[in-house]
Amino acid sequence: MGLLWVTPQARVRRILGRPSPLAGRTVLVTGASSGIGEATALAVARRGARVLLVARRADQLERVRSAIEAAGGRASSYACDLTDGAAVDALVAQVGPVDYLVNNAGRSIRRSLHLSYDRFHDVERTTAINFLAPVRLTLGLLPAMRAQGFGHVVNVVTWGVQLKAPKFSAYIASKTALDTWSRIAGRETYSDGVTFTNLRFALVRTAMTAPTEAYAGRGATAEQAADRVVRALEDRPITVDTLAGRVGEVLNLVAPRASDALFSRFDRRFPDSRAASQPTRPDAAPGSPTPLR
Ligand SMILES: NC(=O)c1ccc[n+]([C@@H]2O[C@H](COP(=O)([O-])OP(=O)(O)OC[C@H]3O[C@@H](n4cnc5c(N)ncnc54)[C@H](OP(=O)(O)O)[C@@H]3O)[C@@H](O)[C@H]2O)c1
Repeated sequence: MGLLWVTPQARVRRILGRPSPLAGRTVLVTGASSGIGEATALAVARRGARVLLVARRADQLERVRSAIEAAGGRASSYACDLTDGAAVDALVAQVGPVDYLVNNAGRSIRRSLHLSYDRFHDVERTTAINFLAPVRLTLGLLPAMRAQGFGHVVNVVTWGVQLKAPKFSAYIASKTALDTWSRIAGRETYSDGVTFTNLRFALVRTAMTAPTEAYAGRGATAEQAADRVVRALEDRPITVDTLAGRVGEVLNLVAPRASDALFSRFDRRFPDSRAASQPTRPDAAPGSPTPLR
């Protein structure tokens, strides 16, 4: 993350070595019941923030809340299916104003087109949780942020936004929609002190990636990913990219056909996982280890 991408206040704070701006603030983290969201909740609480934990699995949220409070932190849990619009509206009313929002809850699908012809629900499901849900939640929380003159939203998206990797059309399109929506929203809210970061992660070892055999043992840990989320909350950059993501983005711009040829080779070299080839119910249970990969 380069200095040019962060706010002037963050630049000054880093240069002077001041303490975390998260202390005493309220941070809402979605998808806090596992993986990157859980690790982020624990890390944010360690910096003195009050954490609002949101996901569907109440028992897992309670486990995370207990761990935070046992370590001397403050947290509350809210069981909510974020794809249920009325439930999101009720959540917004229940939590009141927040200072920081981490739109982390999500679902990934890695499946070739030829296995997807009769699976339009893959597109609907990824759009519901990766785009419509965070936009609805953000719209609900923005008025209070703008009124108080401060707010920051971190979206956990993917380097696929830049790479446009094969087999991820439904997933990456939904994350790209959120990335673009937030970039534009941030221009409108900038003068009210409300900013957005699109955090474009590469591979992270979580329940989400576990079913894909090709990823075994690869990627960052959830704790390493959480460190980057915390840094994005503190510094408020516009994007957090990987070098590979930036190179892929430039290649897509300057040599799009060469990029197609390269990615076509990757597509053939890394086949669909066994899980991706199996039929699954479109309404898989909360916490089921992303059976679509
Ligand atoms: N792992 C990677 O390689 C990677 C790379 C780039 C980006 N990401 C993104 O990182 C984010 C976190 O993923 P992860 O890797 O940490 O996987 P994870 O452990 O499977 O976490 C997904 C989280 O989303 C929550 N969630 C899913 N559907 C929900 C719904 N309808 N309502 C509320 N919460 C819901 C889950 O909680 P419940 O099941 O309890 O609802 C869970 O806490 C995702 O947005 C993912 O796309 C991951």
